[in-house]
Amino acid sequence: MTNTDRERHRERETAFYLFTQQRLPACKPVLTPAWVITIFLFTGFIFIPVGLVTLRASRSVVEIVERYDTECVPEPFRIDKVSYVQDDSIPKNCSLSLKVRKYMKAPIYIYYQLDNYYQNHRRYVKSRSDRQLLHGWKYHATSSCQPVEFNNNQPIVPCGLIAWSLFNDTFTFIRERAELKVNRKNIAWKSDRDHKFGKTVYPFNFQNGTLIGGGKLNPRIPLSDQEDLIVWMRTSALPSFRKLYGRIEEDLDADDVVVVHLMNNYNTYGFGGKKKLVLSTSSWLGGKNDFLGLACVFVGSSSVILAIVFMLLHLKSRRPYGDPSYLPWNRKSFSG
Ligand SMILES: *[C@@H]1O[C@H](CO)[C@@H](O)[C@H](O)[C@H]1NC(C)=O
Repeated sequence: MTNTDRERHRERETAFYLFTQQRLPACKPVLTPAWVITIFLFTGFIFIPVGLVTLRASRSVVEIVERYDTECVPEPFRIDKVSYVQDDSIPKNCSLSLKVRKYMKAPIYIYYQLDNYYQNHRRYVKSRSDRQLLHGWKYHATSSCQPVEFNNNQPIVPCGLIAWSLFNDTFTFIRERAELKVNRKNIAWKSDRDHKFGKTVYPFNFQNGTLIGGGKLNPRIPLSDQEDLIVWMRTSALPSFRKLYGRIEEDLDADDVVVVHLMNNYNTYGFGGKKKLVLSTSSWLGGKNDFLGLACVFVGSSSVILAIVFMLLHLKSRRPYGDPSYLPWNRKSFSG
């Protein structure tokens, strides 16, 4: 063979390559009724038990949710809550009593829940400087922090709207005149503490302006140990969210009454936000959320119902497979 012959031969070979001719080995399942019904039944028998187990875990979580933003404003101030909360001369303390319905096993997680609070607003989310949080105020390019970047020509650490608006309500818990110990350590992600907030970065010039947005920070504690700030700065994607405040490390019995002394400092009244206090136990699946379990049960039972429908159809009007008279162009009614 000459060279050109060989080339031509190769060309022809590629043109008749198995792929172009669609002759690759492949799985070609024939979806007979028996197969389809078995697959649907199998899906159902997997999903329903998984869903029930998940639902049971979620139902085993005991939760106490108490809204306090209105209740904690004294009656005479309720017409104008904004000026009440902004007036530093009025004491902000408030007491709630929570009744424990069911035995709660430690650790009991304490969350504050804010509703109608858009931490996902574009200008809010961007208003921070991750490099400053890690390296400190010597890092000057903090323009991303606007409008909370400088005060009195001095940089603010931590800068930005998110840090500025730090939540500042506080809670203490009392049961039968004894204070319940609240563990406030390890409430933030370890990766945030180790890699995002500096161990040598200290708050500086923070909440020093004329308008105070929220909580203050102890300037002698490095940012990596300011766990409330770290929790707050992991912004929430949805306008209704919970953030961890601490843990109660004692069991609570049914019918216990827990008295909460709180400082109602944080201003959510200006935009109609709600504040709630949440006590919750946890299961192996985390907190209370029925969605996953219900979704699994729904998918599983739909599969089983479909399997039953197909089975009935199959029993009622059986027909041979591969019968060409069913093809549309072989049917009498076909016109086209
Ligand atoms: C708490 O935050 C509010 C703003 O939401 C502020 O007016 C108030 O001064 C702050 N109080 C304390 C004690 O930090």
